[in-house]
Amino acid sequence: MTINRKKTVKVSAPGKIILSGEHAVVYGYPTLLAAVNRRLTLRLNKRKNDIKVVSNYPPYLAKYGLRKVGQKLRLNSNQGWRVKIDSTIPMTGGMGSSAALSVAITAALYWSTRNNWDIEKINRLAYEIEKKQHGNPSGGDNTVSAYGGFLWYRKESEDLKNFSSLTPKNKIKIVIIDTGNPVENTGDMVEKVKQMRQFNKKEVEGIFKEMEEITRSFLRFLTGERSYNLSNLLNKNQELLERIGIVSPESSRLIKKIKSLRGAAKVSGAGRWKKGSGIILAYHKDPNRLMDFVKRNKLKCFQVKLGEEGVRVEKS
Ligand code: PMV
Repeated sequence: MTINRKKTVKVSAPGKIILSGEHAVVYGYPTLLAAVNRRLTLRLNKRKNDIKVVSNYPPYLAKYGLRKVGQKLRLNSNQGWRVKIDSTIPMTGGMGSSAALSVAITAALYWSTRNNWDIEKINRLAYEIEKKQHGNPSGGDNTVSAYGGFLWYRKESEDLKNFSSLTPKNKIKIVIIDTGNPVENTGDMVEKVKQMRQFNKKEVEGIFKEMEEITRSFLRFLTGERSYNLSNLLNKNQELLERIGIVSPESSRLIKKIKSLRGAAKVSGAGRWKKGSGIILAYHKDPNRLMDFVKRNKLKCFQVKLGEEGVRVEKS
């Protein structure tokens, strides 16, 4: 197909956090995710032949995405592109930065070459890029970046993913602690859990089942169906993540200190083992106590709004 529509397209896609269910979701258990008010903005221009990427992100994923989605949309293979990417989503891990990129690339290409905005197709194509990046992703990250809001998500099989948007009655005010530059990536961590599961399936499946219970409690908490103590839910989730070995000793110590202040914290996303652990969600009934702790320990931290809008066209 020749490209006869928009010459310049600007789209943005949000990052995300996982409230509960990370890793277990790869094996068909449910997860609860929320889009956040940190976004990746992508500007796409037509260019003669080659692909030029202007970004802090490694260019290979954007290039792969443009080629892959271009093929799927049957675009002229000689079409060149200039892509400019700006993002406020930390690349430390856990905030879905690569999923936001996959969704934004797909959405920009789709919008510039089609006459409509088909979020289902955009999400499905973005998942193909995610597979290149992570090997065996659940598809939760790209789905929440595409649709936004709060999502209950379950991967039943490669071709069947069930998800529903939620309208929470209870607000969750969390702080994100960024544990710094990672050594491993999401794919490494998913592989680590896979090996642990192969080695001890019964134990790991048992942990995933407990995780499902916590995810369901989070759901009931969010929808106001039952009252729960948010700190307990976060801390229980964290204990399970420690048991599947995705929390580095350094992050584990940090989280224990937050707990000792009567706060709560958990790793969100794939986690890391060698150094840091991606992002940590921290909560305290008295936010000032948490902020004092963060300042005293010179931690990198920021607040996020949950339930933000999914991918959107900014300008075209
Ligand atoms: O760390 P992130 O943002 O890449 O999140 C990964 C979440 C996992 O459950 C570990 C993997 C997946 O595909 O759902």
